[in-house]
Amino acid sequence: MLDKQQVRTQQSDEYIIAVGDEPLSEIQKISSLYNSTKAFFFVDSNVLELQSELVESITALYDEPIVYSIPAGESSKSTQQWMEMVTFCLSHNPDRNVPVYAIGGGVTGDLGGFVASTVMRGLPLIHIPTTLLAIVDSSIGGKTGINHPAGKNLVGTFYQPKAVIAPLNALLTLSDEEFLCGFGEILKYGAIADPDILTILSTRDLSELRDNTSLLKSIVQRCIKVKTDIVIRDTKESNLRMILNYGHTFAHAIEKQLGYGKISHGQAVYIGMIAAGILSRELGATIKEELIEQHFNSMMISGIDIAITPEQLVSAMQTDKKRSATGLRFVVLKQYGRPYVEQVDDIELIYKVWAATLTKIKELKLQYA
Ligand SMILES: NC(=O)c1ccc[n+]([C@@H]2O[C@H](COP(=O)([O-])OP(=O)(O)OC[C@H]3O[C@@H](n4cnc5c(N)ncnc54)[C@H](O)[C@@H]3O)[C@@H](O)[C@H]2O)c1
Repeated sequence: MLDKQQVRTQQSDEYIIAVGDEPLSEIQKISSLYNSTKAFFFVDSNVLELQSELVESITALYDEPIVYSIPAGESSKSTQQWMEMVTFCLSHNPDRNVPVYAIGGGVTGDLGGFVASTVMRGLPLIHIPTTLLAIVDSSIGGKTGINHPAGKNLVGTFYQPKAVIAPLNALLTLSDEEFLCGFGEILKYGAIADPDILTILSTRDLSELRDNTSLLKSIVQRCIKVKTDIVIRDTKESNLRMILNYGHTFAHAIEKQLGYGKISHGQAVYIGMIAAGILSRELGATIKEELIEQHFNSMMISGIDIAITPEQLVSAMQTDKKRSATGLRFVVLKQYGRPYVEQVDDIELIYKVWAATLTKIKELKLQYA
């Protein structure tokens, strides 16, 4: 069964976000909106192999399916890969009615979405997200893009899809690590907008949700609701949408300092939220930190060493594209569900918060060892 939510942003007509086990009937409905016998299918190479049945069932809806396999991994979000895919599309003489299906995780969605938004000034885009992170986060909100040597996601567009259809069954072939990675963002939604998510998860081992699809579906729905509510009100990230970056100022600096790929984005966001919680308390918040911290063992299962000094962290933050002209900006909480943005000019405070975070990580390692 599919659960559906309707979304209309400042930038788009109403479209549907559907989550569930039987996506095909919904995909069929969407395909019938475009009078085209052909369609592009940009598919993550692992998904093409591991989810061949799903992919074949979707491509079979068209007389002329045009499949392109995207090499798995972040390095595909490059100008070369984008160019190759644009050339591939143009070689098939598409008209503007030929839809693009992006089937995979956030890499496929970002890259495939960027190609869809740029070929002939835009082909209809349908996201079929197949990682937990893509389902709750990257497929929603219309941000597409690729990386540039100057930084991550620096080239891209705001381009809303015509539909997002998330087949939860596809998560069965996802590795444990990739599955847990999605919980960085899920816990974030709980912290910034829907604390019930934190409460519901507090009695669970996160990996247990793999086998509890009804609970997973309801958590996923809550997350999608949080993200869509924010994106509807602030499509182009001018203000409100910034609260989605809770934990991310720390996370981006951690990823950058450790070296991309050394820690998953979800893990970096998780540590970033521990730090942002400490900063929030320094600024006067009262929050139950254990609701986040108790998932340390699940989230940090691969035992990464976060050996970053406060000076290194702040230096990495100072090159982050989201900082303001004068100081560092952080999303912090008054309480769970009440986020605000604070500019911090006192660098000593950030040093102190990061030192406290490192101590906290040590304690959690001992506590949950
Ligand atoms: N556009 C946005 O708003 C937004 C938001 C958050 C993150 N992102 C971007 O998303 C990307 C990260 O996304 P991700 O975590 O989904 O990574 P990903 O797309 O690299 O997928 C992770 C891994 O899972 C594999 N995979 C995907 N689906 C699978 C399945 N069903 N079964 C087995 N393996 C599967 C992929 O091959 C890959 O190896 C980053 O590039 C990030 O910048 C974008």
